[in-house]
Amino acid sequence: MNSEFLVLEKSPALSGVSDLNGAKNAILVIMASLILTSGKSKLSNVPFSHDVFQMIALLESLGACVLVDQELRTLNIDTTNISNYAVNADIMKKMRASILVMGPLLARFGKAEIALPGGCLIGDRPVDMHLNAFARMGAEISLEGSCVYAQATQLKAQKFILAYPSVGATENIMMAATLTQGKTTIVNAALEPEVFDLATVLRAMGAYINLLPAGVIEVVGVQELRPVTHAIIMDRLEAGTLLLATAVTGGEITLPQGPGHSLEVFLEKLCEMGHSVNIGIDGIGIYLKATRSPRAVSFKTMPYPGFPTDLQAPMMVAQCLADGSSVVTETVFENRMLHVRELQKMGAHIELEGMIAKIKGVDRLYGANLIAPDIRASAALVIAGIAAQGSSTLSGIHHLLRGYQDLCGTLQKLGAKITFKSEVI
Ligand code: UD1
Repeated sequence: MNSEFLVLEKSPALSGVSDLNGAKNAILVIMASLILTSGKSKLSNVPFSHDVFQMIALLESLGACVLVDQELRTLNIDTTNISNYAVNADIMKKMRASILVMGPLLARFGKAEIALPGGCLIGDRPVDMHLNAFARMGAEISLEGSCVYAQATQLKAQKFILAYPSVGATENIMMAATLTQGKTTIVNAALEPEVFDLATVLRAMGAYINLLPAGVIEVVGVQELRPVTHAIIMDRLEAGTLLLATAVTGGEITLPQGPGHSLEVFLEKLCEMGHSVNIGIDGIGIYLKATRSPRAVSFKTMPYPGFPTDLQAPMMVAQCLADGSSVVTETVFENRMLHVRELQKMGAHIELEGMIAKIKGVDRLYGANLIAPDIRASAALVIAGIAAQGSSTLSGIHHLLRGYQDLCGTLQKLGAKITFKSEVI
């Protein structure tokens, strides 16, 4: 058996211009949405992270034919022969996003058999909102162990008032509603840019979707949807990660494709820290020049357009090395502070009370043997490792590979000292 890990060394100030990949959280749901169609679709600007390969395997297991071109960053997906509505439990358990095939399967076949999804260990991450929504639309749902069986002769349009703007539940309801007769309304819907990218794709398929102010989404069902050609939006979370890696090493970076318009609260916090940030015309393109004496700032994660929970861990690294004290509050997930223990190993001063981290900035972090607990924490620990004195090792890098296409390669090009190691154990 091989043990794979990264060696991270204190790096010079990162510097340069970097391209971005397509958004992981957009591509996964958009791939799932293709189940609603029969025919050949083409997706471009595809980020080839491991979760995307899992979604390819999932679609193939249902009968889709998928052609991968990593050089052109495209996926050609033919859904004509999808006939299976039961998803293999092994695939489901590797990726939480696999729950997103449930809405499309129910809408197209009136049936779905799935296992409860796995993914990152950031809390219980229930899927009750998804299952309750399908039940309200008329699906009969039964649970046997970790298997979920759902069936509906005809889904019925409903008005949903979500207690919380869940990204996945909003997406699943939207997809199921596209082929459901009548008008489905989602009040307190998630408004993440990835939800909008899905809406763009569904509209291109022929769906009728109305995005109203104040977080209301209306979907009027149609008889049939057609295949699409679509370029995935840029990954705002990868952009944020690169900006933070540059900030903690005291560097300078330009992201010509950086979606500044969808990172406003996060970028405002970087400015409050003292970093110099410029956003291009129309909100596209981000330039950052790091301050040498960053000030600590407090922040609280919130649904979009608030501070993104997926940037909480990487931003915490910046607070660990800033001047002064800060408070980081996680409100989206109930167990998303697993990186704190690893940062403490590096000498960070963090007191954790539930999902509130009280941080006192230190002059430096020190290299340590680190374990990545989830996707976004793994990116945070890479950032911490290249900023820390000495050398660190990071194991559990399958999390990093699930969420990012070659994040380490991108950071290396900017000057980061990162080496991939594989040892037989
Ligand atoms: C998506 C993103 C993830 C991001 C998160 C919040 C993808 C593939 N993943 O995850 O990167 O961190 O949005 O921006 O797009 N909840 C329930 N019951 C449910 C559904 C959710 O209690 O049925 C809770 C969750 O446990 C969590 C909160 O709602 O505490 C938010 O979850 P949700 O917005 O659904 O996140 P995901 O769609 O899983």
